Amino acid sequence: MVMLLTGGAGYIGSHTALVLLEAGYEVVVYDNLSNASRESLRRVEKLTGRSLTFIEADIRDTPRLQQALTEHQVDAVIHFAGLKAVGESTQKPLAYYENNVGGTLSLCEAMRAAEVRTLVFSSSATVYAESDDMPLTEAAPTGRPTNPYGSSKLMIEWMLQDLYAANPDWSIAILRYFNPAGAHESGEIGEDPNGIPNNLLPYVSQVAIGRLPQLSIYGDDYPTPDGTGVRDYIHVMDLAEGHLKAAHAITDKAGLHTWNLGAGKGHSVLEAVRAFERVSGREVPYQIVGRRPGDIAQCWANPHKAETELDWQCRRTIDDIMADAWRWQSQNPQGYDDSPA
Ligand code: NAD
Ligand code: WQD
Repeated sequence: MVMLLTGGAGYIGSHTALVLLEAGYEVVVYDNLSNASRESLRRVEKLTGRSLTFIEADIRDTPRLQQALTEHQVDAVIHFAGLKAVGESTQKPLAYYENNVGGTLSLCEAMRAAEVRTLVFSSSATVYAESDDMPLTEAAPTGRPTNPYGSSKLMIEWMLQDLYAANPDWSIAILRYFNPAGAHESGEIGEDPNGIPNNLLPYVSQVAIGRLPQLSIYGDDYPTPDGTGVRDYIHVMDLAEGHLKAAHAITDKAGLHTWNLGAGKGHSVLEAVRAFERVSGREVPYQIVGRRPGDIAQCWANPHKAETELDWQCRRTIDDIMADAWRWQSQNPQGYDDSPA
């Protein structure tokens, strides 16, 4: 089977490409490299001993995408491509709607024209309404996202639901990720953010390696056990395996499914920092600062639906996440920039 991964050179896409290659799929990566390096895919090929096809192009280029789908006889698409910086999305909302919503529209048009009707989409727990009622099942109400990034994800979910309602021969999986973190256990591929990281784990790793002086913890006055925010950190390899299972489950079976991919456990910022210090042996200096606008107190998944319907489970612990994040960071202090061109 041939899988086309839009955004497959990025953080989650590169780990998924590795898992798919190891499972015997043919992989075509379609990425404009706006937030990724070609090096991630070279390393995926080295780790798996298999080659993949790379196409440097934009998902908004519908004819190019249609050509890629036809030429490579693609069976299914996993759609990672998009912009994902929450803060930036409030400054550049149109860029987010254009790339994420417009890009997905272009993808669906190309798929329709090429008669490819199996699609796995990267959504996010950010689509859920803020709630005190944890854990979140897929039936929890979606809300009015607090930023254009989140709105773009919810709009895409609606678009896919409407597409399916009109075309019930499509097979669509909407995967709502919680907080992806960690790296492949080899330390060869991992998360390589541009500039100062927004997310907790890359920030902590860069403090530990000495690229940043200290972590700012955004608030210790939330109604949580230690006052810091609680999140569901899911190991990126467990997440990648979830894509394999989801793609497998929907192949040759029409339907639209929504699945939470989370570990089903919440950890506070302080717990995460302590786990990182424990496994890395490095101190992570921090200061408590004010809350970050738009943050919620707590969020974790009920992953039961994915576990039972996909025969999938998170196998890795919070300590595994921290150990693998640290291995990646310590072996690649400047990320993929360390590699010879
Ligand atoms: P990433 O930025 O590492 O990967 C996205 C990839 O898409 C990059 O390789 C980028 O070059 C590519 N891309 C962007 N716009 C494109 C376009 N117009 N045409 C072709 N390629 C394009 O991000 P990631 O963390 O791997 O996230 C993958 C997906 O998962 C995204 O859709 C993101 O919104 C979603 N997601 C991520 C998280 C997270 O915390 N990382 C959480 C929930 C959902
Ligand atoms: C985690 C916790 C912060 C950085 C975001 C997006 C969400 C999804 C995943 C894509 C929170 C605290 C963080 C720091 C801190 N992305 N923190 N200091 O906000 O749960 O989710 O990424 O879909 O849409 O909103 O993740 O890693 O930014 O934060 O104290 O420097 O760490 O306040 O409690 P978040 P995060």
